[in-house]
Amino acid sequence: MKPIQVGLLGIGTVGSGVFNVLERNQEEIRRRAGRGIEITMVADLDVERAKAVVGDGIQVVNDARAIIANPDIDIVIELIGGYGIARALVLEAIAAGKHVVTANKALLAVHGTEIFAAASAKGVMVAFEAAVAGGIPIIKALREGLTANRIQWIAGIINGTTNFILSEMRSKGLDFDVVLKEAQRLGYAEADPTFDIEGVDAAHKVTLMSAIAFGVPVQFDKAYVEGITKLSAADIKYAEQLGYRIKLLGITKRVDKGVELRVHPSLVPSKRLIANVEGAMNAVVVQGDAVGTTLYYGKGAGSEPTASAVIADLVDIARLHTADPEHRVPHLAFQPNTLADAMGSLPVLPMSEVVTSYYLRLRVADQAGVLAKVTGLLAEAGVSIDAVLQREADEVGGEGSTQTDLIILTHDTREGTMDAVIAQMQALPTVLAPITRIRKEELN
Ligand code: HSE
Repeated sequence: MKPIQVGLLGIGTVGSGVFNVLERNQEEIRRRAGRGIEITMVADLDVERAKAVVGDGIQVVNDARAIIANPDIDIVIELIGGYGIARALVLEAIAAGKHVVTANKALLAVHGTEIFAAASAKGVMVAFEAAVAGGIPIIKALREGLTANRIQWIAGIINGTTNFILSEMRSKGLDFDVVLKEAQRLGYAEADPTFDIEGVDAAHKVTLMSAIAFGVPVQFDKAYVEGITKLSAADIKYAEQLGYRIKLLGITKRVDKGVELRVHPSLVPSKRLIANVEGAMNAVVVQGDAVGTTLYYGKGAGSEPTASAVIADLVDIARLHTADPEHRVPHLAFQPNTLADAMGSLPVLPMSEVVTSYYLRLRVADQAGVLAKVTGLLAEAGVSIDAVLQREADEVGGEGSTQTDLIILTHDTREGTMDAVIAQMQALPTVLAPITRIRKEELN
């Protein structure tokens, strides 16, 4: 059979990986796909650099639309990124009847509903394994491997940059700003790391997993997003003394009233496997009613790990593109007409409705009655305490210090209740600094 023809939009780190892996493993990939997969056109603004990567024999253009207009191209790989031109090109490729493979989590998390609807109407596939957790085949696992299950929750370390920073903060006892600079120097963090450190990248990814897991539309705008910029080395140390590590988790959970969709730093018991995922690695835990707990671990970024996911999508398309669209795996795992309506039966819950447990750190005056006042407010609000740790004032503020840190772990509480009681504690004259609140996930 004639090789399937692929046009590549954007040949940076991931695009080069796709090109190299396809070339290196072409024979194996052909045996799996049942036909060859060939990149025959590449579009990149830097034509010379692109030519240096792909060599002779492949047409390199600086206009992506030349690829979309080429009737011989079957699949377009979009590796441009962002919401702007990438959205226009993906929609144009779909309109031209091309299948699309993309690693663009931002685009799908924000415009997924529009893009998947356009693809369904045109009978083409939009494949996005590389958009979540890089080389880990988590989309395949959720959409196909776990298809028998009612998924209960997913919790993932799905941003390598922040996991690298948190690992360094813990192992070296350093503060966030210091480690971020080092991560940038080593190339683990971008020059503008905002999307990573503010949790936005992780929120894009968990939004996609949530849709696939629960059969809801992609709703990035409803996600609660909190990054790691306010974490201190002290909190990481105290958490460790209490038997926890702090990880930036993307969490989505099905509860009675709807779906939780949130990204924030979380205390995780040190004994959990996911708490021991260090450096730039990613891991996702999925809890299904039939299978129980499953864990997926691997590289969440990088040239060839991400290429591995992109090429898996190319092979899927090579195998399935002649199938009746009704018989392909649906984009979001559930048949489009069965997705819960955004306003209907399975809403994304506001953060105030989320129930979880908490780590609180209060900088207090080291005086009689302070602990009693604080715990009294928690008791009045019905918040049950799990553990309390108080450091010696000298250890916290130096010799002769009159201040100390009070660390409280709570049992499960509604976030709205916790907001109110934190406000009351903050108003106490003996609470001397803004209270630190970090959510705690037992993941059991
Ligand atoms: N910047 C991401 C990370 C990889 O640090 O994991 C691409 O989403």
